[in-house]
Amino acid sequence: MNTNLAPRPKKIIDEEVKWDTSSIIISKTDLKGTILYMNDTFEEASEYPKVELVGEPHNIIRHPDMPKVVFKVLWKALKNEENFHAIVKNLSKTGRYYWVITDFEVERDQNGKATGYTGRRKSIPQSVIDKIEPLYKTLLKIEQVKGEKASELYFNAYLEEEIGKPYNEFVLDLFDQQNLNFQKQTTRDTIKKGLTWFFFGD
Ligand SMILES: Cc1cc2nc3c(=O)[nH]c(=O)nc-3n(C[C@H](O)[C@H](O)[C@H](O)COP(=O)(O)O)c2cc1C
Repeated sequence: MNTNLAPRPKKIIDEEVKWDTSSIIISKTDLKGTILYMNDTFEEASEYPKVELVGEPHNIIRHPDMPKVVFKVLWKALKNEENFHAIVKNLSKTGRYYWVITDFEVERDQNGKATGYTGRRKSIPQSVIDKIEPLYKTLLKIEQVKGEKASELYFNAYLEEEIGKPYNEFVLDLFDQQNLNFQKQTTRDTIKKGLTWFFFGD
């Protein structure tokens, strides 16, 4: 793989990418997280042309502000073949950022065997960012100073003590707490669980 095709940003710019935040950003990967497909909105938000991203690992858009433990929890769920939701700050090609909620779905063949994953992302309101960002900053700091294991232990204890539920459910609650008027029913059946109402309901 010629990784020069998808250069990573040389510097981080503390500025949001401009993208059509009413659209859904979609990507599909194999079981290892190698990008197989992305839609036009992914291209717009990430600022990478599709040709540069296909075949690259999905961590190409990992933002350095994201704590590693969030992805550890994500991959644990995916390996267990569970669908998952996460709030993620992503990095664009020019070093800018965009916050999204991602609904991860396990793709299966006719025999029910997992073949890959689909991520569908939507923009999130500032009120939700304000709730999650302080936690991510704390986790990142712990990772930098005390290491990943300490961050993971803190994360688990935080969820148990302050939230009382796993991260996956905490993420959904953040939306409910904001009293956002999202319609929870939908006729679309492309996403069977989780944030269907969030993606297609309004
Ligand atoms: C379908 C799918 C979509 C993903 N989307 C993102 C994403 O938007 N941003 C991101 O940083 N990681 C995403 N990941 C996780 C990455 O594969 C990777 O675990 C993460 O960027 C952290 O990098 P690391 O595992 O090298 O530490 C996705 C994984 C899958 C399977």
